[in-house]
Amino acid sequence: MIAESNPIVLQRLLQTVQDIGKWNIYICGEYTELIETMSFGSTDLLLLGNVDQSSCFEIYRICHQEWKDLPVIMVSHDAVIPDFYRNWIMEKKGFNDVVSSDPANHNQFVKVIQNVTSVIRAQKQALSLSSSAPSLKGDAIALTIDGKSTKSAKGTRLLSALLSNHAKILKACGGQGRCATCHVFVQEGMECLTPPTEQELITLNLMRIEKSNARLACQCKILEAGLVVEIPKGKYVGSEAELESLVGKKAQQSLIHPITGETLVYEGKLILRSALQRMQEVDREFEREMGTLLTRSAIK
Ligand code: FES
Repeated sequence: MIAESNPIVLQRLLQTVQDIGKWNIYICGEYTELIETMSFGSTDLLLLGNVDQSSCFEIYRICHQEWKDLPVIMVSHDAVIPDFYRNWIMEKKGFNDVVSSDPANHNQFVKVIQNVTSVIRAQKQALSLSSSAPSLKGDAIALTIDGKSTKSAKGTRLLSALLSNHAKILKACGGQGRCATCHVFVQEGMECLTPPTEQELITLNLMRIEKSNARLACQCKILEAGLVVEIPKGKYVGSEAELESLVGKKAQQSLIHPITGETLVYEGKLILRSALQRMQEVDREFEREMGTLLTRSAIK
């Protein structure tokens, strides 16, 4: 399990861990999601970085209480690991360590992961095969992402399942149900997901896409096997300035508005100034609609 909300650090952690061993990796950027996901299956290792606004020490304390034998590696974003991390780790029982996510400390990080990998392997060998401990694999349910079959623990947030399977999806609003970057199209098995939240319905209503089978992956959890989802094809445009810098070039892939999900330029087409104007229009329309919505909810 990797708990980290900073996308750049997350990529670094993912890369290192994937290079070292064969892991089923689950990613969480929020505290509740982390605890929920861990509750559904046995986790071998927790890499604990920054999780939304929660204190990593508090999360560590809770995890340690709940899963005493779980190895936890804390991730400091500093190049020089502050002493309070080491002091904290030293007070705790079990296999714990702290690493720096700074690229300058990559070799040290690799060593720690290699070390913990051998500890986990030894622990697993020592466990009787008849152990009744539930495994993530045992509790896993099947789903299909862009035509590829995979498995996920029951109750996993769809966004976590997608990210764990390296789906090309973003979470620009941090999983709060306020953007289009995590939307997917459900081809089969809408009933396998939890119902839409109020926030999801508001956002979907504002989006300019085919909505009948769209869901925001950060707002729903997988409850049953049989879900088939498709990820929208294309790249979300970060800002008007980014689109402006691309004017005159050919779109290597479709360019999508990050809030409304509208395709601004289709793959292979020339990126014209009119696309930028369209983005500006969409932004203005969106702000107006948001304003109306806020006024309506204030009147209620
Ligand atoms: S990440 Fe923004 S709505 Fe899901």
